[in-house]
Amino acid sequence: MGVFTTIVVAFWLMLPAYVPNNAAVLAGGGRPIDGGRTWNGKRVLGDGKTWRGTLVGTAVGAALALVLNAVAGDVGPAVGVDLPTFPVAVVVALPFGAMCGDIAASFLKRRTGRRRGAPFPVVDQLDFVVLALAFAFVAAPTWFSEQFTLGVLAVVFVLTPILHVGTNAIAYALGLKDEPY
Ligand code: CTP
Ligand code: MG
Repeated sequence: MGVFTTIVVAFWLMLPAYVPNNAAVLAGGGRPIDGGRTWNGKRVLGDGKTWRGTLVGTAVGAALALVLNAVAGDVGPAVGVDLPTFPVAVVVALPFGAMCGDIAASFLKRRTGRRRGAPFPVVDQLDFVVLALAFAFVAAPTWFSEQFTLGVLAVVFVLTPILHVGTNAIAYALGLKDEPY
């Protein structure tokens, strides 16, 4: 696979995992998942992880994966890349894994004394990728190893932090997010 093809495929495969966190920012609010509970005097997850944000984020990511499946046959030839489609289990696993990774990071943040919204470099940028990939692997191991070649994975781990920092800076500039990270 050429470099261009690898980048396009990596971005395409990860889109259903990229969008949920941004959708959650727009949809968040309401009851926190931890119900306000604390552990050793600190919130289990914090007010930034809500049922609504998690549900809407997962649903938006899954809907996007279905749209990508529907248009892959047209977009692929147009950009000259053989674009993959997502098995139905992966349609859910990628966005739900992304949301769970973000929730796991908040759990770690609270245990390490970081208040809501505090930055946690590297973890903030890659938490959702690691669990999205893990969930996708469990959902469809054969499909996963065919699509996520070492080259694609390398691109994912370089591209994701760049996109994450960029989109969060934009969301902050638009007043949609409280912090630029
Ligand atoms: N959000 C949500 N549910 C989620 C994830 C995010 O409702 N599962 C919403 C919340 O309104 C949250 C916002 O998206 O405040 C930004 O998400 P994030 O940066 O992940 O949360 P923070 O508020 O920064 O909290 P934390 O320190 O726990 O990451
Ligand atoms: Mg945050």
